[in-house]
Amino acid sequence: MKRMTYQEYIDYNVRKNSDPAFREKLIKNRQKKVAFFVDKFRKLGLGYEAKAILCLGARMGEEVEAFNVLGAEAIGLDLVPYPPLVREGDMNNIALDSTFDVVYTNSFDHVYDIADWVVNVRRVLNPGGVLILSLFPEIFDGHDEEEEVAYVEGKDEALAILGRHLRLVRVETDTPQWFKQYTEEIYLYAKDAHE
Ligand SMILES: C[S@@+](CC[C@H](N)C(=O)[O-])C[C@H]1O[C@@H](n2cnc3c(N)ncnc32)[C@H](O)[C@@H]1O
Repeated sequence: MKRMTYQEYIDYNVRKNSDPAFREKLIKNRQKKVAFFVDKFRKLGLGYEAKAILCLGARMGEEVEAFNVLGAEAIGLDLVPYPPLVREGDMNNIALDSTFDVVYTNSFDHVYDIADWVVNVRRVLNPGGVLILSLFPEIFDGHDEEEEVAYVEGKDEALAILGRHLRLVRVETDTPQWFKQYTEEIYLYAKDAHE
């Protein structure tokens, strides 16, 4: 299967997420989704008070708002910004000077190249910082040419690539109420795996 070029992938995601009708729909459901994230993060029980948190692929920032409700100082990054919660930026090339205690993403399937991405994530994580990946196992079942799902053979390969820079510390499964049809898995990695 032909892979999108990097520019095609960027253009596709920008076009898709700029659609005003789509964003209008998201605004209508905003509070429900924020509540969903608050509940999820609370159950994870990491303690977010005063933590610096970066959410990658945050779209309209419901997860950012949820972390802030829980006392964090969170910001989001997305190709399409949603100020002030979500800044414009490419998560494959994170152009931020700040570093973070937690990096969160549920947009792992939008990562273009896991090996490059994890180097970016590690660079912006504070020592002892944690990457939380929230994902549907189904993303590894097949590659959608348009979505440009990370090109790996499966979860094990993805974890092995991440493991070059980060250490797996916890795996959880969750049955989210927002996306009723799926079971979601959550992976947490700590920085400085091979020190
Ligand atoms: C499935 S949505 C998830 C949105 C949000 N986290 C949520 O739960 O509502 C994926 C998001 O990733 C963003 N995205 C895709 N590629 C990206 C990239 N290279 N850098 C930053 N954001 C990206 C898209 O614009 C989109 O907003």
